Amino acid sequence: MDTLAKAVEKLDRKGYLDIDIDPNMDLVAEINKLKKEKNAIILAHYYQESEIQDIADYIGDSLGLAQMAEATDADMIVFAGVHFMAETAKMLNPRKKVVLPDLKAGCSLSDSCPAPLFKQFKEQYPDHVVVSYINCTAALKTVTDICCTSSNAEVIINSIPKEKGIIFAPDKNLGAYLQKKTGRDNMILWNGACMVHEIFSHEKITKLMVEHPDAKFIAHPECEAHILDKADFIGSTSQLLKYTKDNEAQKFIVATESGILHQMELASPSKVFIPAPPNNTCACNDCPHMKRNTMEKLYLCMKYEQPEVILDQNVIDQGRVCIDRMMEISKAAGFKA
Ligand code: 13P
Ligand code: SF4
Repeated sequence: MDTLAKAVEKLDRKGYLDIDIDPNMDLVAEINKLKKEKNAIILAHYYQESEIQDIADYIGDSLGLAQMAEATDADMIVFAGVHFMAETAKMLNPRKKVVLPDLKAGCSLSDSCPAPLFKQFKEQYPDHVVVSYINCTAALKTVTDICCTSSNAEVIINSIPKEKGIIFAPDKNLGAYLQKKTGRDNMILWNGACMVHEIFSHEKITKLMVEHPDAKFIAHPECEAHILDKADFIGSTSQLLKYTKDNEAQKFIVATESGILHQMELASPSKVFIPAPPNNTCACNDCPHMKRNTMEKLYLCMKYEQPEVILDQNVIDQGRVCIDRMMEISKAAGFKA
């Protein structure tokens, strides 16, 4: 059996093509060559390693990436992000090939809401509208009425008539933040959370704020309420990035995954960005799922067009409805990639 066939055989277990690469290979040059040869587009989330961000055709948050995936005329979408994002890209563009450097790049938030359990839960509230954060599986999207991302969540909630009850899944922190922002008390929250945004240390952040009184403290709405209560600004990754560009402050303490600091530093080289520390011995918060993708895996998935994201047609047909609703509302509200 040749090397590729052996690696393909192990794909289910490993999640990526485990093929040795010449350590002297110029990965940047080779990836750029493959991009042209295959008419491929690399879409990268802000939480990817900086070298992956640097080679991407588009870097964005979950909403921007979905909009780009829908709009692209490339033949192959190379998704440098996590599995639910690549699934969304596939649902939006089912005729295109979508590859992900590592199929095991999952998401704790998405895992916290298995569709069969959610279906039972939903039966208790038959009159409620189901709004799911895009950070969920394709299966969950098939039982969702409208999707949202952290950029457009408030707009999506406000698009639902006030008297209607809402089930919000899977992120209880984003859900609680939205309840507060929109004043909706008829919202039932699924009990899920992101492992990265849930472990910021209140004590260490307070200490940093005392040490840097001139810094603005900014946070992602997936963080817990006691962290958000301290924030000068709350927003999705792209909104946080924009805030650091537009705000006259020279220093920012940033409570989200540390990958975003790369774009913040590139956009505002004279400003100082301090990652908010978690409740452990690390200095910053990395998402272990996002960081499964590497330049080597990116190169291999482009060269061999594997691992590929495959979805059943009925999952695409049913799951897409809630994404299309989100895209329409976002477009009307002026959200652009
Ligand atoms: P956004 O991309 O919407 O900011 O969400 C962050 C996130 O956790 C993605 O996994
Ligand atoms: Fe999932 Fe959190 Fe990682 Fe985003 S940062 S992919 S929500 S675990």
